[in-house]
Amino acid sequence: MNVTKAELIITAGNQSQFPTTEVPEIAFAGKSNVGKSSLINSLINRKALARTSSQPGKTQTINFYNIQDTYNFVDLPGYGYARVSKTQRESWGKLIEGYLSTREVLKHIVLLVDIRHEPSENDKMMYDWISHYHQNVVVVATKMDKLKRSQVQKHVAIIKKGLQLKEGDIVIPFSATTKQGKDEIWNVLD
Ligand code: GTP
Ligand code: MG
Repeated sequence: MNVTKAELIITAGNQSQFPTTEVPEIAFAGKSNVGKSSLINSLINRKALARTSSQPGKTQTINFYNIQDTYNFVDLPGYGYARVSKTQRESWGKLIEGYLSTREVLKHIVLLVDIRHEPSENDKMMYDWISHYHQNVVVVATKMDKLKRSQVQKHVAIIKKGLQLKEGDIVIPFSATTKQGKDEIWNVLD
């Protein structure tokens, strides 16, 4: 898809701020700092519409983006970030859960994992949760530029095994640095 229009609708800190919408939504989930905001920017050819940071915990609200009046992209706060208070973690958890469990227009959840690492307990929980409520899960294994080419397939296999991926679910290696994998992701979403 050639995106010429992409704009922030709202940064929602609580459920009452979720926008009313008719268009389907695609949400991006994954641990803090894995590259969710960077993936969104890559898909829409923008450098910094979604704010990114080398510090984990950058996105703390649920950010809704209007993409071409055709979809909303939804940038979720990352999980598994230890350096915040328990209260704060719980309130993010509630916010994310509130979104994922009630949003009728939510059509796809893209789960991001770091291609270099074995999936964490949180990643597994998230995968199980998504595959329970949604049909097919698209897993994006990001930061592939950090691996040698010859290592990519081995790591994809580790991720499939770690998440216990079901038939029909796919892992797409991706890099926000080189944009490798971008077309495959669009093909699945479009
Ligand atoms: P939170 O909002 O904190 O949950 O993080 P996020 O998942 O939105 O991550 P973000 O996109 O902010 O990226 C985190 C860091 O990883 C930034 O420094 C990015 O530049 C870097 N990064 C993201 N994707 C890639 C990638 O594919 N390759 C490399 N080398 N770095 C990446
Ligand atoms: Mg972010």
